[in-house]
Amino acid sequence: MNVKTRRDFLQQAALGAAAFLAYPPATVLGANDRIRVGMIGVGNRGQDLLQEVMSVHGTQLVAIADIYSRRRDEARKLAPGIETLDDHRRLLDRKDLDAIIVASPLHTHARHFLDVVSAGKDLYAEKTMTWSIPEAEQCLAAAKDSDRVVQIGLQFQSSGALADARSWVRGGLLGKVTQVESWMSRNTPHGHGQWVRPVPADCNPRNVNWSAFLNGRPDRPFDPYRLINWRLFWEFSGGNVTENMVHQIAWIMTALELPLPSAAYMSGGIFSEKDGREVPDTIAVTLDFPGDAVVTWQSTFSNSHFGLGERILGSDGTIEHGWEKSDMVNGEEGEFVRYSPEKINHPQAAALTGKTKDQDHMTNWIECIRTRKTPNASVEIGYRSAIAAHMANLAYRRRQRITLEDAKAVSPQF
Ligand SMILES: NC(=O)c1ccc[n+]([C@@H]2O[C@H](COP(=O)([O-])OP(=O)(O)OC[C@H]3O[C@@H](n4cnc5c(N)ncnc54)[C@H](O)[C@@H]3O)[C@@H](O)[C@H]2O)c1
Repeated sequence: MNVKTRRDFLQQAALGAAAFLAYPPATVLGANDRIRVGMIGVGNRGQDLLQEVMSVHGTQLVAIADIYSRRRDEARKLAPGIETLDDHRRLLDRKDLDAIIVASPLHTHARHFLDVVSAGKDLYAEKTMTWSIPEAEQCLAAAKDSDRVVQIGLQFQSSGALADARSWVRGGLLGKVTQVESWMSRNTPHGHGQWVRPVPADCNPRNVNWSAFLNGRPDRPFDPYRLINWRLFWEFSGGNVTENMVHQIAWIMTALELPLPSAAYMSGGIFSEKDGREVPDTIAVTLDFPGDAVVTWQSTFSNSHFGLGERILGSDGTIEHGWEKSDMVNGEEGEFVRYSPEKINHPQAAALTGKTKDQDHMTNWIECIRTRKTPNASVEIGYRSAIAAHMANLAYRRRQRITLEDAKAVSPQF
């Protein structure tokens, strides 16, 4: 029998009201108002973003939250006068902040994303959008239910090379695209594993809020190595697929306007970095897409010869994009995007080289906060690229092909 009691009704009404109040409208800023920014997580990447946002005209960095005193001290040196806090909730309590940048470890992204959105702030959220598929669904829904401006830290969505590739694809220069190849390769000196960072002497339980770092992961004694090197362990990270494939797959998905993959495969292992890490250093991912297209991504940490790049292979032409012996994170030189016709199907077409200038990703976010437009790296591309990355990792961890439906049904375990 489906009889609703008065109590059920009141509970539901209260939930409805709470859901509504969870996303109060964002403050409307005038053209001359300063945008007051806060940050959550000011480690390696966060300190870069801190300097980027401080250099954007009309912004003011007001306060940051980080669980490690060393990072708070470093932030204060870079931005004298800011308030530093050890708990992101205290930061979000501040009513005078318009927007928040999140550059915390992957396993805390969803928590910070949801808390920022429900606190009524606009958000710059580092990639990968979330650590798991259910979290990606939650964050997408929260962003859509709110009117927040959300930029994902997929900065290559603002690149001129992507704008060129998109216009060539839209202009029909490629014909039918059935295959995309992509790869990323790095190397380190013998004996030094990729990503391994030294643990600072002051990294001890007095200076770190360890339970905030764990963020619901099983409790355990303080472990400074895992705190500093969280990237190496599944419960905090998604390995190189969430560190780097996500940038390239987002680029490819946007260029070709691809939907979610229908299935993923991933092989590889810990072949070069036998230092106790859990995430693979050698990877071959295959993503099947609806509409007869397959995208592959390969990565190694023990050879950098072929750098990084993508090749979009169409019946009427090819797009090549790359950095040559560099990487998407550090590589500023040598980026190119080129179109070459397949003369057999497109005899009149000429070869093209991309010339469009990059947009500054941080500036794009700040402009969108003022105009309420959708930033270049929207929550949708954050979502689609996160799902593709998590599907690949699920296939690897299960050692079998995984479909989108199966991947969505998995309740992730760490
Ligand atoms: N877009 C890019 O090109 C790019 C490049 C590098 C890193 N990233 C991303 O940036 C994020 C951070 O990477 P990183 O290398 O800076 O890591 P990091 O470990 O150097 O920095 C993370 C910071 O977050 C702090 N932190 C941990 N838990 C916290 C919590 N619960 N609340 C507040 N602060 C917390 C840590 O103390 C640390 O200072 C990752 O998601 C990474 O994938 C993006």
